[in-house]
Amino acid sequence: MRSLIQQLSFFAVFVLPVVMPEELPANYLSQQGFLPFQETSNVSPPYFASLSFNGMPIGSPGTPQVSELFFDTAFAFLPEGVQIQKLSDASGREVWNYPVGTEVAHDIHFNDVGRSLFELRVLRKISITEWDFASYAPSSPGDPHSPLIRNHYTGVAPFSTTLQLSNGSNPRIDLKRINLGFCKNCHMATSPAAYQYPSLNEAGPCGFGPKNELGIQTWIQNYEAKFGHSPFSN
Ligand code: HEC
Repeated sequence: MRSLIQQLSFFAVFVLPVVMPEELPANYLSQQGFLPFQETSNVSPPYFASLSFNGMPIGSPGTPQVSELFFDTAFAFLPEGVQIQKLSDASGREVWNYPVGTEVAHDIHFNDVGRSLFELRVLRKISITEWDFASYAPSSPGDPHSPLIRNHYTGVAPFSTTLQLSNGSNPRIDLKRINLGFCKNCHMATSPAAYQYPSLNEAGPCGFGPKNELGIQTWIQNYEAKFGHSPFSN
């Protein structure tokens, strides 16, 4: 009996999906060994649902471009000992079979003097079909060492801060974070390789996939240099 329970719990460790945790260390990406890749699609990921700059809606005269206020970097991570399997679908298009535990991240910063973190978005593959979509914000905004806390708001959530820009100005930013319920739908709609997700529930990475060969080239080289083998099994 005991050995059966032991066997079951041993089995459970490997089959139970491990969703993204409630808290991550500030240096999560470097600690895990994520490597950066380039996003090359012409659709920009949304940073916010709405934003005002010194009380004026962004886009109105005198307000900066969104790209002047934010910058983002995409990252991907494969657990040790597993590789991505390249398959093709019925129409001959390349499909990636990502191993469970694969993670991709979007590190979104303000373009202020401290380059402070706005949000870290992470997808983790938690079963053979499903990805956990998570979004984190620093527990004390502006502090580069503060832990990252998973967001659980419904609808859009307000966030305000004052930025110190390199031109000496200190604009006030009032924004609403994007609706967490839209993550999957949008990835399903905008991913250049969305055909590899058979249903909305199986939607996963947007840029880290077969349609972004160019953007992932350096990621592959860096992965091979670091681990001494290909990230692909075939
Ligand atoms: C309006 C559409 C949209 C919404 C909503 C959205 N994303 Fe994205 N996401 C994108 C696009 C577009 C990219 C970048 C694709 C590119 O340029 O290659 C992206 C990239 C990413 C990446 C970088 C890795 C990759 O290749 O997928 C992560 C991680 C990510 N999103 C997570 C999230 C999470 C978590 C949410 C919800 C909190 C979310 N996204 C909401 C459209 C969206």
